[in-house]
Amino acid sequence: MFARTVAVVGTGYVGLTTGACLASLGHRVVCADIDEDKVAALSRGEITIREPGLADLVAEGVAAGRLSFVVGAAQALKELEGEGKPVEVLFLCVPTPMGVGGVADLSAVEAVVEEVRDAMPPGCVVVNKSTVPVGTADRTAELLARPDVQVASNPEFLREGSAVHDFLHPDRIVVGSNSSQDAAERVAALYARLGAPTVLTDAASAEMIKYAANCFLAMKLSYVNALAELCERVDADVSDVTEGMGYDRRIGQAFLSPGPGWGGSCLPKDTHALLQVADSADFEFRLVRASIDTNTRQFSRMVDKVRLAVTGSRNGSLTRVRLALFGLTFKAGTDDLRDSPALGVAALLRQAGADLVAYDPGVAVDSPAARTLDSHLLTLVGDPYEAAAGAEAVVVLTEWPEFRALDWARVAESTTGGTVVDTRNLLDPAVIRRAGLSWTGVGRPTTVAAAR
Ligand code: UGA
Repeated sequence: MFARTVAVVGTGYVGLTTGACLASLGHRVVCADIDEDKVAALSRGEITIREPGLADLVAEGVAAGRLSFVVGAAQALKELEGEGKPVEVLFLCVPTPMGVGGVADLSAVEAVVEEVRDAMPPGCVVVNKSTVPVGTADRTAELLARPDVQVASNPEFLREGSAVHDFLHPDRIVVGSNSSQDAAERVAALYARLGAPTVLTDAASAEMIKYAANCFLAMKLSYVNALAELCERVDADVSDVTEGMGYDRRIGQAFLSPGPGWGGSCLPKDTHALLQVADSADFEFRLVRASIDTNTRQFSRMVDKVRLAVTGSRNGSLTRVRLALFGLTFKAGTDDLRDSPALGVAALLRQAGADLVAYDPGVAVDSPAARTLDSHLLTLVGDPYEAAAGAEAVVVLTEWPEFRALDWARVAESTTGGTVVDTRNLLDPAVIRRAGLSWTGVGRPTTVAAAR
């Protein structure tokens, strides 16, 4: 395979994974960031992102001389130039946070384009990898104002917690360009060794594919969460229903687990952004809006469940009721609390007057993530049994497998109320009942014999 020279601007989640993985595929990669301390730490092989396999890939890349870190995008170009192999592909992996009214804030993309505009060698390709609104590739080309430099969009589909695996075993590679087919092909060639199906298209379609995929996943989850509510009303078991649906290859088993709602740094942002795209195209995307509304409602539905389990009534009071929350992150395997449905549910429980003590295996009490938590909302402790002590109920909010392995008899001894509300259908109800606790899940009869 022909190794290419690549610059990656932004060493956040997407950028660092992209840089380290492309280096592992044999390319020469220089990653740039504006944060000097971060660049120094990365150059020493220290990474702060919790992602299996990433630290090893970074260390290997640095040791092999294929991966290096510099301060500033312009410096990345200089470094490659100095090696006699000017950059061929420059990836923009900078944050595009949701701004006012759901419009993505592109100031970081604009700043990098400004910085590299005059230093880009003719013939190279600038690639948007951050999730950006439809039309950003054209906007980037306009800002660059370099007809001899091509622009492409190459969305990523990595999941937190399995980003390295997802990068190296992609379901597909998508590259779109309005500049030329050749630009798209050159970007796709970086991934040739992975042997994945490749979609080459125009820039707007590539940008749309990213939103379309994430919003479809969000819609699938809202559908399942609504289905779980209906199952509760007609005494059906959503675990059996989704298993039965999932064998249909057109549906698939993945992404069919009901929960307290979907969250994280991507699905909420992207559903709102797609609505924004639709609004500005004068199109009312009712399905996406309904998926968001269903998700918001799911949080309060979880609170109703807790009320019912603790007080015996959907209208019962939770004032001064102590609750143990198991899990705060938006999903298991991460320390990411951004837009976590667990925190959404916690906020409503607190509003209802409950006192919350939380434990999360991914969030140590003195960690940076823990410091972002509001102490008026909840008290974080480092041990699940401590969280359960004196609680009326344990509310499982994140699907950490560790929770299955707890000594539930010990949890039962610590709690005062003896109730478990399992918003992820994570636990085996038979185990919980044997421990002397009552179990309530989502979309499953409370008398169900065993979790699947
Ligand atoms: C998501 C997409 O899955 C990735 O393909 C995409 O690349 C990424 O966004 C992105 O745009 O960068 P991620 O945010 O890491 O990945 O999280 P997911 O694994 O998709 O989970 C999202 C939410 O759905 C979580 O709150 C999770 O707990 C929930 N979920 C997921 C369920 O409630 N049930 C399920 O069956 C699956």
